[in-house]
Amino acid sequence: MNDHTAKGRFIAFEGGEGTGKSTQSQLLAGALRTLGKQVEVTREPGGTKGAEAIRELLLHPPGEGWNAQSEALLFAAARADHVARRIRPAIDNGVWVVCDRFVDSSRAYQGVAGGLGDDAITGLHAFGSHGLRPDCTLLLEVDEDRLAQRLAARDGEDSDAIGGRSIDYHRAVAAGFRSLAEADPDGFHIVDGTGTPDDVHARVMKLIGPMVDPA
Ligand code: TYD
Repeated sequence: MNDHTAKGRFIAFEGGEGTGKSTQSQLLAGALRTLGKQVEVTREPGGTKGAEAIRELLLHPPGEGWNAQSEALLFAAARADHVARRIRPAIDNGVWVVCDRFVDSSRAYQGVAGGLGDDAITGLHAFGSHGLRPDCTLLLEVDEDRLAQRLAARDGEDSDAIGGRSIDYHRAVAAGFRSLAEADPDGFHIVDGTGTPDDVHARVMKLIGPMVDPA
């Protein structure tokens, strides 16, 4: 039975491209539904009409593209709409929200790899989204060689404006995620993303189990 009296929970998957976040979001949502939870799966940038329109601007920029500041502002604007119109209302209605990327992507990509620093990103998030944090963030990690293979298989030559950045940029993103997770061991779980989707899902469920009210 769905419990509409309790507040929902907010779980985010984070990690570089091709680490399996969207597959794991779907598998987790299915498992939570089986356990009687009402679940919404969403993603960033995106999740609302307005935020999906901003996603298109970010991933396929018109003209010469965005500078670092504009890019960070657009991600924060998309997130503000997503939080206000979808995530916050869902949580308040007892829905469990599973999100493929959230603010820690901005901290790792724009803050660390893009060089804007953490204060700028968390400041934008405080203004845009009242600093909302997931109850739990699952960081999926896959080693670089395996990642390069997965990306080549998935994107071929068609990567987007951010996915197509240099290997050094993506290395900085991965290091950024890891240091965010290490600095906040209560908020993050680092999950080994190697193996089959079911292998990874089993690791995720071990970590999420204690959050799920068995009643
Ligand atoms: P997407 O295709 O959704 O990611 P993935 O490749 O992991 O499936 O593309 C989103 C891109 O946007 C990805 O390159 C990460 C980037 N991004 C940021 O740079 N900052 C952010 O805050 C978010 C949410 C995403």
